[in-house]
Amino acid sequence: MSQNIDLSVKYMGLDLKSPIIASSSDFTSKVDSIVELAEAGVGAVVLKSLFEEQIMYDIDSMRMNNMFDSYAYTEDYISYYTKQHEVGKYLELISESKKRSNIPVIASINCSTASEWMSFAKNVEQAGADAIELNVFVLPSDPEKSVDYYRKLYFDVIDGVKQNSNLPIAVKLHYYFTDLAAFMVELSEKADSLVLFNRFFSPDIDLNKMKITSGGSFSNPSDHFQVLRWIGILNGKLNSSLSASGGVHDASAVLKSVIAGADVVQIASSLYTQGVVAVTQMINGMEEWLREKNYSSIREIKGLLSQNSISSPALYERAQFMKYFSDFNHSKD
Ligand SMILES: Cc1cc2nc3c(=O)[nH]c(=O)nc-3n(C[C@H](O)[C@H](O)[C@H](O)COP(=O)(O)O)c2cc1C
Repeated sequence: MSQNIDLSVKYMGLDLKSPIIASSSDFTSKVDSIVELAEAGVGAVVLKSLFEEQIMYDIDSMRMNNMFDSYAYTEDYISYYTKQHEVGKYLELISESKKRSNIPVIASINCSTASEWMSFAKNVEQAGADAIELNVFVLPSDPEKSVDYYRKLYFDVIDGVKQNSNLPIAVKLHYYFTDLAAFMVELSEKADSLVLFNRFFSPDIDLNKMKITSGGSFSNPSDHFQVLRWIGILNGKLNSSLSASGGVHDASAVLKSVIAGADVVQIASSLYTQGVVAVTQMINGMEEWLREKNYSSIREIKGLLSQNSISSPALYERAQFMKYFSDFNHSKD
């Protein structure tokens, strides 16, 4: 009889039946699809993000005494109604997903300022969410603004959300920080999880039409190497959970993430390119590998090859690249 494999993990205080989380995307914007993902074996879902602007619209509208008089144009009213409705629908999505699936539901907010929208965290908590993920969408692209300006924004957002809710907070980050490791360590003092990394729209140029286009929405499996490096470097140095996000397309990428030190992985592109069956295949593949290597739980492999655990920590930094060229030259001799 084949040995049962325990895939359960703890993630920012939540109990997950597997380390695979369906990342924020259209796949997590409908209850039916969330139920399907839960049945396929995801440990949790991060709902499609609600934008800070949508929440602000709702807050502003509540201040208006006479809605119809305030809107001179029907067009504005429709815009008002749609946005307000979306906020209400989001809270409904949280409570319905909780009712119909037996997994933790993490709300997600796309934000770029620390402002009044943060009071919305209490509505999210009341609707039954298990945690909040903050997609702090700020590119440090303004040459007039300092590192301190950008850093402070993250801390102000986390503080503001914490003042309004007791839910665990995950922060989803990009890698455009000069002091990435130091900043992550500091953030982990306040946040319950760091999600590395977010994927932005990347610009491309259409040479025929001479205009800016999208560089493509989905990740490639090779995008995972960047994630793996930082998970491996940060494992054991943070006070928070660690989630790998970006380029996880199969069971081996999930296993590698955990071996480097991630508590969980988040997936989006693989759901679009392979469908929900990607989750089942990842789970089967993980179980098979763990069984073959005589492990009985996924937790046994966590951080086994993180930077702290290996005899040549430099392999996570530059040495690997130099070695490639020395091997390459050598093989030509
Ligand atoms: C079509 C699409 C929609 C997405 N929407 C959101 C979103 O609303 N909020 C968010 O935080 N991330 C969003 N993401 C980013 C994903 O959650 C994820 O972080 C990123 O795609 C990297 O993971 P992957 O390589 O598995 O795709 C979206 C990604 C895709 C492809």
